[in-house]
Amino acid sequence: MADAPARADTAYAVRLAARFTREALEVGGEVPWGVLLFKVPARVVGRAGRPERTARTGRRPARSPTSSSAYRIPRPPHNSGPPPRRPIGSANYCGPAFVGENDGLLGELVRAADRASWPHLAPLLSDAVGFLSQTYDATAGLVGNTMVALARGADGSDIGALVREVARYDAPIQNTRRFAAAPFVHDGRAVESGQQILVLLAAANRDPAVNPNPHALSPGRVNSMIFTFGASSHRCPGEALASALAAAIVTELRTAGLSSTDTPTYRPLANARIPHL
Ligand code: HEM
Repeated sequence: MADAPARADTAYAVRLAARFTREALEVGGEVPWGVLLFKVPARVVGRAGRPERTARTGRRPARSPTSSSAYRIPRPPHNSGPPPRRPIGSANYCGPAFVGENDGLLGELVRAADRASWPHLAPLLSDAVGFLSQTYDATAGLVGNTMVALARGADGSDIGALVREVARYDAPIQNTRRFAAAPFVHDGRAVESGQQILVLLAAANRDPAVNPNPHALSPGRVNSMIFTFGASSHRCPGEALASALAAAIVTELRTAGLSSTDTPTYRPLANARIPHL
């Protein structure tokens, strides 16, 4: 279920991000960096995946029989009465109460839960909170650090390539943690059950064994290894979505002729690197 972001409609998310960025800029006055970095990506993730209104009718396209319409009228299998008003513990029944009218990414989470016959509401809610909190901080860092790279003279001819390289070179998420489920030995050191391990993702990105000349910012790097989004089975499913959002927002900012400081201070966060612009 946590992989729902990987199934988001990225092209739609990009269009939303561009639109929300323009709307934020249209307000005028000081550049609203806080809105641009934090709120625009979170708004998009709250809606990504939703069918767009058609230009002609202004209405959403009709749902196909396989679309999420089944989630609008949930009923317990043995009950032909009206739908329950509150979640009762099964994804089938909690879905609509949980997502309301949102048939976007959070709706996709509920659909995934149903496909997997997942019966627990609490983990579903924590996944949804995770989607939004991951988006909020980490994507803000990716947008901000890309703006700083441009202000420092980075090659912006391919913003997608620049965003990808910034994710490696100036990682918005610097570290993550693991908790040992059982004792083990790592590099000659005993790790006891329950002990924490701090995984330095940003440092791994700069390992010359995997990225030659790692301290150079080189958009378009061939075969670059990026650990910013984790690795293996719990690797971030939002990587493509976050990168596309960041590229869309940065592109709009450049189109509007905006740039950031090249010497920002950073927010005092334990694992995220987000500049004050
Ligand atoms: C620049 C943006 C982002 C960065 C740097 C980032 C980074 C990460 C990292 C480091 C992890 C942990 C991986 C591990 O433990 O191996 C993670 C997990 C996760 N991320 Fe992201 N993330 C970003 C954006 C997003 C977005 C936009 C979403 C959802 C909309 C998202 C959803 C998740 C989820 C659900 C997990 C848990 C995966 C699992 O445990 O199986 N992330 N992310």
